[in-house]
Amino acid sequence: MNVLLLGSGGREHALAWKLAQSPLLDKLYAAPGNPGIAKYAELADIAVSDHRAVIDFCLRHSISFVVIGPEAPLVEGLGDNLRTMGIGVFGPNKAPAQLEGSKGFTKDLCARERIPTAGYVRVESRDGALAALEDFGLPVVIKADGLAAGKGVTVAFTHEEAEGAVAAIFADAGGSAVIEEFLEGEEASLFVITDGTTILPFGSAQDHKRVGDGDTGPNTGGMGAYSPARVLTPALEHEAIETIVRPTIEALTRAGSPYSGVLYAGLMLTHAGPKLIEYNARFGDPECQVLMMRLQDDLLELMLATAKGELAGRPAPRFSPEVALTVVMAASGYPGTPETGGAIGGIDAAEAGGARVFQAGTRLDGDALVASGGRVLNVTAIGPTVRAAQAAAYRAVDAIDFPTGFARRDIGWREVAREG
Ligand code: AMP
Ligand code: GLY
Repeated sequence: MNVLLLGSGGREHALAWKLAQSPLLDKLYAAPGNPGIAKYAELADIAVSDHRAVIDFCLRHSISFVVIGPEAPLVEGLGDNLRTMGIGVFGPNKAPAQLEGSKGFTKDLCARERIPTAGYVRVESRDGALAALEDFGLPVVIKADGLAAGKGVTVAFTHEEAEGAVAAIFADAGGSAVIEEFLEGEEASLFVITDGTTILPFGSAQDHKRVGDGDTGPNTGGMGAYSPARVLTPALEHEAIETIVRPTIEALTRAGSPYSGVLYAGLMLTHAGPKLIEYNARFGDPECQVLMMRLQDDLLELMLATAKGELAGRPAPRFSPEVALTVVMAASGYPGTPETGGAIGGIDAAEAGGARVFQAGTRLDGDALVASGGRVLNVTAIGPTVRAAQAAAYRAVDAIDFPTGFARRDIGWREVAREG
C-alpha cells in the first residue's frame, strides 16, 4: 500500500525509517518532510493545513493510509476529513484530539472521571485569573488553554511571575487559561496505542526540556530523551494505565468520540502515585526517536490495526530490552532565534558506529546539508545500559561537524546516576 506521512521533524524521520522497513509498504510519500525523510519517501509539495490538497494528493497517488505526526493537523480535524473520504488514518479525530488541543477540556474530563491530576480552575478573564491565584500557594502553574508548542506553560515561583503569565495570556481578547496546583515528583512519559476499545502499552521515555546542562535555562521542545523510563516501574505503569489512561479512553468512547492513535501521557510520579500533567495526541519529539530505535514489531502493521479498530486480543508491541538515548543537536540561539544556514557534516561517520542520526531542522542548499531550524539533528544510539547508550550517542555527536550547533552533554544523567 501507499502511505503518506505528515510532518517534518526528527519524529517523522524516525517514523519514516521504521515504516520503510514494513513489508506492507509499497511507496512512502511525505509532506513536507526533510532531507533525512527523503531517503525513505518521495516528498510532496502540499500544504498540510490545506485538507482538500492533502485529500487530492492521496486520491491521485492511490494513498490509502495517512500517518499524522504533529498535533496541529489532528486538532484541526484532518483525521475526520480523511476518514470521511475513506482514507485510513493513524491519529485521532478532532474531538478526541482536544485532549491535547485544550487543557481545559482535559482537566474537566479528569474531574468528571476522578482521574488523578493537579487541582485546577479554568479562568476566562484576567480579573478572574488574578482572583483565582489567591486560592493557590506558590509555586503555581499557569497554562494557556490552546496549542502553544510547549510554550504556553509557566511554573511561577513568585506572585510577580504568576501575574506576568496571566497578563500575557489575557493580553489579547478571547484568552483562556487553566491555573493549577504545582505537583512535586519526577516526570515520565507513557505511551499507549488505542483504537478506543483496546489499550496497548507502547513504551515509556523521559526527556530533558531545559536547554542547558544540569536541567538549567529556558524550556525547549526537548533536548534529549531516553527509553525506557525505569522510574516508571511495571507496577506504576499499570497503575497509570488503569487510573488515568483507561478512564480517559472509556469516557471519550462513551461520549461518541473514540480515540484512535497513539496517546502520550505526561505523568508526574508523586508520593501519592502517578498524576496526569498533560496529554499529547501524537508521539513525542524526541521521545519517538528512542521508541522507534527499540520497537521490534512492524510499525505500519500496528498503525493499520489501530486505525481499523483491530487491537483486541493482540499482545503488547515488543520492544528491545536495551536502552535507547537521543541527543538533540540544536542551532546556536535555540530556543530563542536559532542561527540558520550553518553547514552540517559527518553524519555518515556518526552512523558508522551504529548510531542513527535523525534529521529535524535541516534543508539542502545545493548538495550541502544545512541547518534550517532550532532543533536540527537527533543523534540516537542503543546499548545494554543507559551509560553505554549515552557513551555511544556522544561518540556519534562528536563525529558530527556542525560548528553553529550545540548539544547538552548530560542527557540521561538521572538514569546514569541511578545505575551507579
Ligand atoms: P505541559 O505543557 O502541560 O506538559 O507543561 C510543560 C511542563 O511544565 C511539564 O513538562 C512540567 O515540567 C511542567 N508542569 C506542568 N504542569 C505542572 C504541574 N501541575 N506541576 C508541576 N509542573 C508542571
Ligand atoms: N518532547 C515533548 C513533546 O513532544 O511534547
